[in-house]
Amino acid sequence: MIILTANQKGGVGKTTLNILLSNFLVQEKNKKVVCVDLDFQASLFNQWDTERQQLDNPETFFVVKHSLTDSGNLIKQLKKSPDVIFILDVPGTLDNNHLLPLYKAADIVICPIMFDKLTFKSSFVFAKFMKHVNPTADLVFIPNKVKTIVKYENEKKIREELKSFGTVLQNVPDKAEMHRVSIFTDVPKLNDMLNNNLNFIYSNYI
Ligand SMILES: Nc1ncnc2c1ncn2[C@@H]1O[C@H](COP(=O)(O)OP(=O)(O)OP(=O)(O)O)[C@@H](O)[C@H]1O
Ligand SMILES: [Mg+2]
Repeated sequence: MIILTANQKGGVGKTTLNILLSNFLVQEKNKKVVCVDLDFQASLFNQWDTERQQLDNPETFFVVKHSLTDSGNLIKQLKKSPDVIFILDVPGTLDNNHLLPLYKAADIVICPIMFDKLTFKSSFVFAKFMKHVNPTADLVFIPNKVKTIVKYENEKKIREELKSFGTVLQNVPDKAEMHRVSIFTDVPKLNDMLNNNLNFIYSNYI
């Protein structure tokens, strides 16, 4: 199974959610998870590589680095292991042809969104594009970095509009703990809304 976390907007929380989803699937659901870091900055791989050395025999997921320019071959390889959940961490951009085979091959696309106007516009464009290139993928939106003290005027409208493309899950709050996410973070202890969202994804799509 291939899960892709994507949005053409950078900094919405793709890599953070990938770490937490991987933790959740390994720690709570005993699944085999391999993350593929396709971002040339390799921040996911570097964090995993540093943190896993802190424990002797850590129960964790694996992370491999892979070049985006070889994405077609990568998909062929991943399809050979249907029992593994592959989580793809990609850079925040649409204008890279090498992303297309990944978008087309994904079984589930998780799209972190934010309720500010600019981020929403690009999320809407991304959702339309994704439905066009891969109509059968399950598209799931996770509102992230939601400030509890802010009243977002557009929230209802954004939720309604995105519903025509997929499922819009619960708001994940903007919290300092989210900056300290590690490969050992316990999702149920970290945040209820996030835990509900990941349970929803697990029960409905995995
Ligand atoms: N719910 C949250 N509350 C507070 N901070 C958050 C939350 N989610 C993510 N962040 C922070 O936002 C920043 C960007 O997150 P992250 O790197 O996961 O985004 P990204 O979409 O992978 O970015 P890029 O497009 O650069 O790859 C990080 O500093 C992360 O700790
Ligand atoms: Mg990232």
